[in-house]
Amino acid sequence: MSGVVRALARVNVAAIERNVARLARDLTAGVTLCAVVKADGYGHGAVPAARAALAGGAGQLAVVAAVESRTLRDAGIDVPILVMGALSPDELDVALAARADVVAWDESFVAAVAARGGGAVHVKLDTGMGRLGTRDPAYATRVADAAAGTDGVRLAGAMTHFATADDRADPFMDEQLARFVAWVTPLRAAHPDLVVHAANSAGTLRDAATHFDLVRVGVAIYGLDPFGEDAAARDLEPALELRSYVGAVKPVAAGESVGYGRRFIAGAPTHVATLPIGYGDGVRRALTNNAEVLVRGRRLALVGTVSMDNITLDAGTPPAAAAGDEAVLIGAQGAERITAEEVARRLGTINYEITCGLLPRVPREHHRDGEPLRAPGARAAAEAGTTR
Ligand SMILES: Cc1ncc(COP(=O)(O)O)c(C=O)c1O
Repeated sequence: MSGVVRALARVNVAAIERNVARLARDLTAGVTLCAVVKADGYGHGAVPAARAALAGGAGQLAVVAAVESRTLRDAGIDVPILVMGALSPDELDVALAARADVVAWDESFVAAVAARGGGAVHVKLDTGMGRLGTRDPAYATRVADAAAGTDGVRLAGAMTHFATADDRADPFMDEQLARFVAWVTPLRAAHPDLVVHAANSAGTLRDAATHFDLVRVGVAIYGLDPFGEDAAARDLEPALELRSYVGAVKPVAAGESVGYGRRFIAGAPTHVATLPIGYGDGVRRALTNNAEVLVRGRRLALVGTVSMDNITLDAGTPPAAAAGDEAVLIGAQGAERITAEEVARRLGTINYEITCGLLPRVPREHHRDGEPLRAPGARAAAEAGTTR
């Protein structure tokens, strides 16, 4: 294994590049793909993910926290950035200093942008998500008109966000879309330069009617399936692998137990392989007796309690693992593959939470189809500088 440490997340930036190119290919000409790199690029490393997305054809970036826009600027990324989250006054300062566009749903926020020297705003209509944005289309139009009419403030965009795009059986996305179209059509007539946007990954893949001028694509650029299904069937490649290694193998007699709480008691003589990765790295404790890990191209059952720093696998007799073997928790080994979607299903959650849930103790190693990103030059230096 490649120079490891106890646990490692390897991220293939070429996969992100190809995913973006594949997603962009299906957009109508003139529609911009905005790559969403919030939450440290869904756990993949925001700056390398952003660079890969831009190389793949993304035209701009979106984040949620103001500080995330500053991180991208500090790395020398110069494309338009949209900060999508609610912002405290201090955070608004940070976002505007990073020359990021911000999202408004309140006239007082437009005034706050103007008071800080101005900036570009996107007005958000809440068509049914129920989080940020105003639910009142007439008020949203007033906010837009205020932005357009305030010195120093530029009305840049009009947006909404879907609650159920990932559930194709649920018609609510169409209801939201209808509300959005009813609001944005006259608004665009009054402000022809407006950039109109609504779609996340699922919306983008589900219905071209959601594309408007720009799509905000997050999870799919990382090769994760927005519907929780098979990303490969949609021609998306997972960019992240999670690896560890077998730290020790020992025999366990019938009746002996393994781990906290004795949650595994061997029914027959076997061997247990201990891997130095646990919930302190982001391997969730709810995977106790409920996961598989690849060793020597075979699936071994995780047995016993996931502890902070270790997990234990049933390696059988004779043992199907030896100390030093590479172990793959997410990714491929031989002909076998474990996806973030599989881990998510076991946990009753979504793939997003699996990669976002990898903790800082797991270093991220970025590579391009196996080649380390250590080429000379400013770009590689910037990338290396953000690898945790
Ligand atoms: C407002 C907004 N737009 C776009 C996205 C991207 O969504 P996805 O990762 O499903 O593509 C998100 C992510 O949650 C979001 O909050």
